[in-house]
Amino acid sequence: MNDAYIVEMRHITKKFPGIVANDDISLHIRRGEIFALLGENGAGKSTLMSMLFGMYEPDAGEIVVRGKPVKLSSSNDAAALNIGMVHQHFKLVQNYTVTENIVLGVEPEKRLFGCIPYVDTKNAVEQIRNLSKSYGLEVDPNAIIEQLPVSTQQRVEILKMLYRDAEILIFDEPTAVLTPQEIEYLLQIMQDLRKSGKTIILITHKLEEIKKIADRCAILLHGKLVQILDVAATTTREMASLMVGRDISPIIEKAPPNFGDVVLDVRHITVHNEDAFDVVKDVSFAVRANEIFAIAGVSGNGQVELTDAICGLTKITSGTVMLSGVDITQHSIRQRIEAGIAYTPEDRHRFGVVLDFTLQDNLALKTYYKSPFSRNGILNQETFEACSASLTQKFDIRSAQGGRTITRSMSGGNQQKAIVAREIARDAPLLIFVQPTRGLDIGAIDTIHRQILAERDKGKAILLISLELEEIMALSDTIGVMYNGELLKVADAATLSTNEVGKYMMGVRT
Ligand SMILES: Nc1ncnc2c1ncn2[C@@H]1O[C@H](COP(=O)(O)OP(=O)(O)O)[C@@H](O)[C@H]1O
Ligand SMILES: [Mg+2]
Repeated sequence: MNDAYIVEMRHITKKFPGIVANDDISLHIRRGEIFALLGENGAGKSTLMSMLFGMYEPDAGEIVVRGKPVKLSSSNDAAALNIGMVHQHFKLVQNYTVTENIVLGVEPEKRLFGCIPYVDTKNAVEQIRNLSKSYGLEVDPNAIIEQLPVSTQQRVEILKMLYRDAEILIFDEPTAVLTPQEIEYLLQIMQDLRKSGKTIILITHKLEEIKKIADRCAILLHGKLVQILDVAATTTREMASLMVGRDISPIIEKAPPNFGDVVLDVRHITVHNEDAFDVVKDVSFAVRANEIFAIAGVSGNGQVELTDAICGLTKITSGTVMLSGVDITQHSIRQRIEAGIAYTPEDRHRFGVVLDFTLQDNLALKTYYKSPFSRNGILNQETFEACSASLTQKFDIRSAQGGRTITRSMSGGNQQKAIVAREIARDAPLLIFVQPTRGLDIGAIDTIHRQILAERDKGKAILLISLELEEIMALSDTIGVMYNGELLKVADAATLSTNEVGKYMMGVRT
C-alpha cells in the first residue's frame, strides 16, 4: 500500500446513453492536498466525483481508498469511508433547521430512563457550534434552511460533512453561487481545512481559484483526462489551453484603431422608469465605424436602460438617437433592427432565443421572413440548413444533432454563441452586446471576444456593455463609465488603467 495516496481511481469509464462521460480516467490523490478537477461544462467532472461518492458505479475501472479497493454503491458507503461531497445543487431539506439537516441520518440518540430512545438535539447543537467556531463557518444551528442565503446554506453542507467526520471533502463548483467576497472566504476555509489534515477535491472551471489554493490539477476534456499538473509550475494560460484543447492566448494582437464615420449618435438621452425617476440622465456619446465603445459600470447604474432605449425596448423621455445619420428615436423595435442594429441582450432566455425551437430556427429568428429564407411566404429549409451549418462551424457552436437540436438542450455557452452568431451574421452596421460572455467558460469567452474584434476590424461600430472590467480592458477602444445614470467619464481606452476605471465606477470624479 502506498500511504501517500488516499484515493486512487484506476481506468474509470462511465457511459450514459449516447455519451462516454468518463473514458479510462486514472488519478491518484495525495493525503492532505487540494486537488483540483478542471474542465469545461460537460467535461465529466461531476460524473467522476459522483462515483467516488457512491452515486454511480463505474462501468469499468477500480476505486481504491486508503490502499483498499472499494465498491461504493451509495453515499452511505462513501460516508463510511469518511468521504463527503457538497453538490452543485445543495441537497438540504428546506423546512428543516440547520441542526436537523446536519444530523439527518446520523441523529445522536439518548435514552430516557435508560430505555426510550430520543434525539439528543442539545448535544447536536453544541457539537455544531463547536465545529462552526473552529472552522469559521458561522451559522445559527436553529435557523430554518429556506430562510438562509445561499452562502450560508453552503456552510451547512460543509458542516454536514465535518459532522460526519469526513476526511476527503469533494466540492462541486462551490463558488458558482457566491459573490467575490464570499469566494475569498470559502477559499480561505478550504485552506484551513487542508491545514487541519483534510484532503480536498475542488471541481471548478475557474482558473484563478485553482491558481490560488490548489496543489495539483487534473484537466478533463470531453470525458478524457488530458493531464495532471503541478499548479505552482503552470500558468493559467497553459491550464486554459489544455482545458479547451487549443491555444488560448491573451488578445494582444489587436490592430490599432482606424475609426470611420459616426454610426451611432446618442444625444442628450434621458430615460424615466415607472416612478418617473431618472435612470439615464442626459447621456451623449458617439460610436464610430471600426470602434469598440465599451460602457463600464457597476450593475444597476443605468446601462441596461440606456441600451434598451437605443434598441427601442424602453421609451426615451427626451433626447435623440441617430443611426448612420437617420433619426430613429421614434422607430419601432423592428424598424430599428431593419435600420441596422444587431442586438445581443443580457437575458438570453427571455430575449435571445426561443428555447423550444431548433438551433437552425433560432439562428434565422430575425431573418426568416425575408429572402432567401422565405419566398412568397414559403420557408426554404435548405437555406435554414446551410445558414446553420456555416454559422455553427464558424462560431464553434456545439450541439448533439446540429441544426436540428432543440435549443433548450444545449449548454448556456453554446446558446450564447448561437445568439452572437445570428446577430453578427445579420451584417448590421451597429452591433450592441450586453454582457456577451456572462456565465460562460473560457473557451466560449475567447471565441466570442475574437468574433467581436473581427467585426470591429471589418468596420462595424460596436457598443459593448459589460460588468467585467477585464473584458472591457481587453476589447475596447473607447471607455465610457456610467454611474448613477450619468456617463461620468469617456476616454480613450489606452489612457485609462483598470484602477482608474474602477474608481470612476465607484463614482469618484476627478
Ligand atoms: N445522469 C446522466 N444521464 C445522462 N447523461 C449524463 C448524466 N450525467 C451527466 N451526463 C452527461 O455526461 C457528460 C458529463 O457531464 P458532467 O459530469 O456533469 O460534466 P461536468 O461536471 O464536467 O460539467 C455530459 O455530456 C452530460 O450531459
Ligand atoms: Mg458538473
